[in-house]
Amino acid sequence: MKKIITICALLAAFSVGSASANETQFDKLVAEDGSKFRSYFLNKFASVEVTDYVNGVYAIDAKSREQWEEIEDFPPYELSIDEGQELFEKPFANGKSYASCFANDGINVRKNYPYYDLELSKVMTLELAINLCREANGEKPLGYKKGDIALLSAYMAYTSRDETFNIGVPNQAAYDAYLDGKKFFYSKRGQLNLACSDCHLVAAGQKLRADIPSPALGHTTGFPVYRSKWGGLGTLHRRYAGCNKNVRAQPFSAQGEEYRNLEFFQSLMNQGLVLNGPSARK
Ligand code: HEC
Repeated sequence: MKKIITICALLAAFSVGSASANETQFDKLVAEDGSKFRSYFLNKFASVEVTDYVNGVYAIDAKSREQWEEIEDFPPYELSIDEGQELFEKPFANGKSYASCFANDGINVRKNYPYYDLELSKVMTLELAINLCREANGEKPLGYKKGDIALLSAYMAYTSRDETFNIGVPNQAAYDAYLDGKKFFYSKRGQLNLACSDCHLVAAGQKLRADIPSPALGHTTGFPVYRSKWGGLGTLHRRYAGCNKNVRAQPFSAQGEEYRNLEFFQSLMNQGLVLNGPSARK
């Protein structure tokens, strides 16, 4: 009974979360999609608390969860957060630093990304904003999949931990970007002819060869992630490219329009969940 109450309270919190004073008709449409999306998983994995979806496959696979909990006791990304902070605070050649480009000096703003940038008419992700900041200050852009960008992203994510996403769909163009990301998620591709949804919705929790795909609900909250397979940190778009390659599809470029819109769609489905990046994965 207690659990039912918790879930109801959380669902209420979810819908309240998106009902801000300037809620648009598009926010409402997306909230409807979001509620169906969540219900799918809450029905499929009735014993999993909605708040646990931020932990990816470990929310639903007890076997790998044990190992993962041990890893999280001494997180392999801990030093990366410190390195990210150093990079974040180090002045550019012109004397300014990243803080000058972000609201609140870049602290606790991860939760506001990705958002639809009305001036640039595109989805703005945190990593894209980091590089635009560099370029505006006369610095060369960073590669988007690993290295310094992942360290900076890890530090910034860490300052937003336990906060919920604060993103919305302000106009038709933003809604179109959302729909584009949604279409990407449900479209079959590659030689294996599989959509993201085939694995992360329909087959979530089922063993596919050696792996169990995580539920798509919660994707994005924990990024960047430290993966043992990578031997280091990687960004969400690095992961997207990996999943595209796994179905023998040509991956799209990290931070290209396709993956930014996909991230927008996935993040909007995660509204109400907390950010918990960086995190560890096998
Ligand atoms: C053939 C099945 C398959 C397809 C298709 C697929 N993935 Fe995956 N994906 C996996 C598996 C297996 C993993 C590793 C286990 C896990 O973390 O889900 C994974 C991992 C991920 C992760 C990391 C989750 C985390 O918590 O660290 C994300 C994000 C992701 N996939 C997104 C996508 C997206 C978006 C698409 C479509 C472009 C896609 N995947 C297509 C099987 C698939």
